[in-house]
Amino acid sequence: MTPAQFPPADLPEAAFAGRSNVGKSSLINALLGRRSVARTSRSPGKTREINFYSLDDRARFVDLPGFGYAKGGAALRGAWQKTIEAYMASRKNLKTMVLLVDGRRGLEDEELQLLEYARHVHVRVDLVLTKADKLNQKERHAATRAMETHGYAAGDYLFVSSLKGSGLRELWQRLDDRLFERAAD
Ligand code: GTP
Ligand code: MG
Repeated sequence: MTPAQFPPADLPEAAFAGRSNVGKSSLINALLGRRSVARTSRSPGKTREINFYSLDDRARFVDLPGFGYAKGGAALRGAWQKTIEAYMASRKNLKTMVLLVDGRRGLEDEELQLLEYARHVHVRVDLVLTKADKLNQKERHAATRAMETHGYAAGDYLFVSSLKGSGLRELWQRLDDRLFERAAD
């Protein structure tokens, strides 16, 4: 999908990015309170296109293709990178990119490169650690410490679980602020 094929940039958008299987489509469904708006799957690479979901014609959620399922360090140079970067660089109505990170893996090369690219094109990023229901207390502490090594304090990101619904209220609050520009920072 090229920028010419995107819907008109007439509504504020929040885009969801992250490695394949991290739970982007599940999170969109959970936030929308619906089971099957965005297609989810056990097999990675389900969402290859960019999918746009309208929120009552007031805003849009954008499901970006997952990255990292291609083997090797060249993953970020795959087709998905072009797609995501073209979207990020061209989308004037993009209010925030929600970057989903697997709590057990933490920030890896692809996420760090995407964060760098977002800074480069002045796109705001909200970090979310997914599948929080799978983390025991020890793993949650480890994830928190790993985020600290990258300079992110506990308040800089949210733990969410689409399965249990935890963190969704806080994320909605943040997205609401971003989409409708009530955020001061
Ligand atoms: P791609 O479209 O391939 O990029 O994947 P995606 O990021 O959209 O992931 P998807 O939402 O399809 O979820 C992948 C798998 O993780 C599915 O089996 C989901 O059921 C599971 N999953 C998603 N969110 C959660 C969660 O909060 N907790 C648990 N335990 N599993 C989850
Ligand atoms: Mg998906």
